[in-house]
Amino acid sequence: MAALPRPVGLVPTMGWLHAGHRSLIARSEAENASTVASLFVNPKQFNSVGDLARYPRDEARDLRIFAEEGTDLVFAPDVDEVYPPGFETTVSVGRLATVLEGAARPGHFDGVATVVSILFNLVGADVAYFGQKDAQQVMVISRMARDLGIATRVIPCPTVREQDGLALSSRNALLSPEARAAAPVVHRALRAAVGRYAAGERSADALRDTMRRVLATEPLADPEYVSVASLADDRELTELAGDVVPPALLSMAVRFGEIRLIDNERLG
Ligand code: PAF
Repeated sequence: MAALPRPVGLVPTMGWLHAGHRSLIARSEAENASTVASLFVNPKQFNSVGDLARYPRDEARDLRIFAEEGTDLVFAPDVDEVYPPGFETTVSVGRLATVLEGAARPGHFDGVATVVSILFNLVGADVAYFGQKDAQQVMVISRMARDLGIATRVIPCPTVREQDGLALSSRNALLSPEARAAAPVVHRALRAAVGRYAAGERSADALRDTMRRVLATEPLADPEYVSVASLADDRELTELAGDVVPPALLSMAVRFGEIRLIDNERLG
């Protein structure tokens, strides 16, 4: 990858590409001389065999989309290339990786930080682009890169949504028609809390309550967590006032049957 004109932008993906990925590639292309994308369903970041097996895959379609978007190089390694026999190292980011998504999916962020540090080193990109839908992932990766002195700059990019507000995710393809119809309640719940904040509400409990009440209007929605946390360190907040906050992050994980969706909105 040394031969590519610099600066090089990297868009790491697990495939099953959608408009969110296209927007990351477009941003990288606008800001860099070369764009590399990776296509690797990372087994280390799944904490259930069923979830890994269910993850949607269509490499031919993904390669077509990368080509349509003008990606200069696609890195699509086998599992053994990334984790050769005898591989023993885990990159673990500490407290940030153990709350919220990290608490619900133990080991998930170790898997993410490990594979992304390998990708950063192999590709040697100047910049890497990640969707803000996975806000905690962006925080974990930024911290990992900073702590390990990795020069690749981490750029968070806006969440891309369907017209009804549902955040684009490869997992949306797994929703039943009923669950797909119900899923926009996640964004409605977040927007309701943003609205209350804009109207002057500063109690984090009241905002969490607002989100839970909106989610409760949809019988298929089964909330796993609803959070109002500091964007600086992902600690749960009680008050959104004073010198230390905002910015804050409203976030949630909600199950629709077996499919788990996450989404977030920033305050401040
Ligand atoms: O967000 C994803 O698709 C994955 O977590 C990533 C960053 C490609 C690492 O496997």
